[in-house]
Amino acid sequence: MMDSNEVRKKFLRFFEDKKHNIISSASLIPENDSSLLFTNSGMFPLVPYFLGEKHPAGQRIVNFQKCFRTEDIDSIGDNRHNTFFEMLGNWSFGDYFKKEQLNWWYEFLIEELKINPSQLYQTVYAGDGQVGKDEESVGVLKEIFKKYGIKAEEGPETLIKGEIGPGREIDFNNEKIFAYRDKNWWQRGEAVGELGGPDSETFYDTGKKHNLKFGKYCHINCDCGRFIEIGNSVFIQYQKTEDGWRELESKNVDFGGGLERITMMVQNKNNVFETDLFYRIIQKIEELSGKKYFNNQKAFEIIADHFKAVVFIMADDKGLFPSNVGQGYVIRRLIRRAIRYAQEIGINQDDWFKDIVWLIKEMYQNIYPELEKNFDFIIREILREEQRFIKTLAKGLKEFEKISDRKEISGFEAFDLYQTYGFPFELIKELSKEREIKIDEKGFNLEFKKHQELSRTASAGLFKGGLVDLSGKTVKLHTATHLLLAALREVLGNHVFQKGSNITTERLRFDFSHNEKLSENELKKIESLINEKIKEDLIVTAEEMDLEEAKQKGILGVFENKYKTKVKVYTTGKDGYIFSREICGGPHAARTSELKEFKILKEEAVAKGIRRIKADIYI
Ligand code: ALA
Repeated sequence: MMDSNEVRKKFLRFFEDKKHNIISSASLIPENDSSLLFTNSGMFPLVPYFLGEKHPAGQRIVNFQKCFRTEDIDSIGDNRHNTFFEMLGNWSFGDYFKKEQLNWWYEFLIEELKINPSQLYQTVYAGDGQVGKDEESVGVLKEIFKKYGIKAEEGPETLIKGEIGPGREIDFNNEKIFAYRDKNWWQRGEAVGELGGPDSETFYDTGKKHNLKFGKYCHINCDCGRFIEIGNSVFIQYQKTEDGWRELESKNVDFGGGLERITMMVQNKNNVFETDLFYRIIQKIEELSGKKYFNNQKAFEIIADHFKAVVFIMADDKGLFPSNVGQGYVIRRLIRRAIRYAQEIGINQDDWFKDIVWLIKEMYQNIYPELEKNFDFIIREILREEQRFIKTLAKGLKEFEKISDRKEISGFEAFDLYQTYGFPFELIKELSKEREIKIDEKGFNLEFKKHQELSRTASAGLFKGGLVDLSGKTVKLHTATHLLLAALREVLGNHVFQKGSNITTERLRFDFSHNEKLSENELKKIESLINEKIKEDLIVTAEEMDLEEAKQKGILGVFENKYKTKVKVYTTGKDGYIFSREICGGPHAARTSELKEFKILKEEAVAKGIRRIKADIYI
């Protein structure tokens, strides 16, 4: 059976033969880009070269890249998502384009990896008002399928409907090419200057039966798990400007394919955790817990996935360790979550995680020598974090004792124990049962859901250059940003629009359209106006509405491209009076008084016609 090392090697060799130069994986921790905590795709370190800068290795390059996506943490436990994964990538900087890319990729899959072409499906961009349907890719794909003896037809008109379902049964024997809109437009972020373009994704049919839970009809992008995305050819051909997408002079290709999923397909497995990239870790967990993987799948997968992810981040020569901010906070969350699941399946040996970390090092050190180099550091930091977590749990137990003379614990209190002390809900339930305390489980679930939505919003925001963490301060700074935009428009005029925003626990940074330097007087006016609104204790409310309705009402919004038809609108006001109203994903403070005091720290130019304000609140 072909192992993952061979898949990596074959990919590099194949593209070397097509005159590509190999480059090595960049660090998982971005060098100069504060908008992103982790490298999330192979193209990320290559952005300048799509914009015309010359890459020292030439116009055709190939590699495999370490990637990390926190937005997927909640998906661990389906059969195809990982926090850490490797992306096989090949790129054309203004050299070849759609025809070569799609032909080569299919040649690699079918002739090198021996994939049966009748199990492959492809999606293309359906087009919107600004950019047309990707007919060129459709034509190229039909030719490719024909070459392998398959008559490929286009599937039903999907467009918006297709994102949720095709409206009829699809004939997967004949229909091979499917057009989608939002799903087949790729862009790294939302800001002006970002790159984007239509993309064309390749799916592999696992043959799994469709589950009606996911809709009446199965389709290629259906979440039932029958079709697995194994690669994405992005045709980077546009750059975002203030007025929409501008065509770039050079046409580029950004291809990325997940090694774990490709290996799963090659090895004919149902699950990435059954491939050689995970299976030894799973066996080790079986050994440590004395339990079987197939009876405890979720816990095993979380432990294996999270440990691999933290080992790779801490190995990355940047000396990152568990903490309360930025990347450190992500490491902390992953370690604690893995420990909780380890406890749940009965792992309780001292330093049990050493075996797992050692195994990960063994599996990968030939490819990533940093794992061996930083092995001791990783072990030490995980051990420290485990001890801190045990202490926190003990504190939580004390907190529980304080309320344990009661007859009932509210959902909110239970959630607070869970959230603040990392107390597993099962444990809270057990303790309550022993003491005959009633517990509001429904209330707990409600709080849990609310929080999950908030963290999803926050991690989605993160990848758009939004909130870096969910601490109270950044949430309040986010509300301050809304007040700032409203105040700028009131003081300077309605030509002011948001051009960029970045929030850390230290400050907010806000870019906006305006031509001149702001005078002392203007800055004072803006600051006082915001402080007045803080004193007035305005209320922040959220509602959902159709994007069209929001546009008609003139509600401000910056992230126009990826919005689905329903958007969330945040209003800051009181008794019918509205001070600020924006399309926004949240989260926000409940009332402006929580911000206490607003202060502008700095005002400066960033580009022609764009100014920047840095400000802070004193809570
Ligand atoms: N950059 C593309 C992706 O992440 C290939 O899907």
